[in-house]
Amino acid sequence: MTIPRHLAVIMDGNGRWAARRRRPRVIGHRAGARAVNLCIDFCLERGIAALTLFAFSSENWGRPEEEVGALMKLFLNALDREVVELHRRGVRVRFIGERERFGAQIRERMESAEAQTAGNTRLALNIAASYGGRQDIAAAARALARDVAEGRLEPEDIDEAAFASRVALADLPPPDLFIRTGGDMRISNFLLWQLAYTELWFTDTLWPELDAATLARALDDFAGRERRFGLTGEQAAALETPA
Ligand code: FPP
Repeated sequence: MTIPRHLAVIMDGNGRWAARRRRPRVIGHRAGARAVNLCIDFCLERGIAALTLFAFSSENWGRPEEEVGALMKLFLNALDREVVELHRRGVRVRFIGERERFGAQIRERMESAEAQTAGNTRLALNIAASYGGRQDIAAAARALARDVAEGRLEPEDIDEAAFASRVALADLPPPDLFIRTGGDMRISNFLLWQLAYTELWFTDTLWPELDAATLARALDDFAGRERRFGLTGEQAAALETPA
């Protein structure tokens, strides 16, 4: 069975999960943190090499202050609690997004988690925090413009590869499979550049209710799909999975 090398996930439905229980939204996020662990365990068991989780979008800063504060506390606690165990299990942790928008405490914990786990190779865990796909593309464009302005690059040399090497996660293969829980069928400004040829999979399951059986269904579905990358079926079958 073909296993995705890189899985990208939008963890949606925490708020609705809590509302159904007549509990505050933050309780849903706490339950969501447990599902994060389940998802990491699943990737380790199945030999998926990279997992990218959308934890907080650039737009999420606009949520009520109380919810943003609760999420920040949850991130801090998770960083304190989980990093040692992740390291023990060979997980390399990285954060993508506008790090400078977080407080000093969280930024320090992010940096220390990255430094501590930098040598690990079993699973590349990428947490998208204050991340936006359009911002990512704009940052790549800025980097290209800077390289041109400073004479390191000719405008004619700006091609897909030049762009691809300047967006987030440039060192990893792009996601093979994207999963979104919570029933909505959209990308919500997640990895826009990187998802160009990714297989998309949606489930009504709310993120806190995620279980291994649901993830296994996504993988089964993925294994049955014919990925053509714009080619004919025959051509695609002759290809090794391209980037
Ligand atoms: C979307 O659900 C979820 C979020 C904005 C936050 C995701 C955070 C976690 C899963 C918690 C911990 C994460 C880490 C990495 C430790 P929503 O609030 O939009 O749900 P709704 O659509 O039902 O309102």
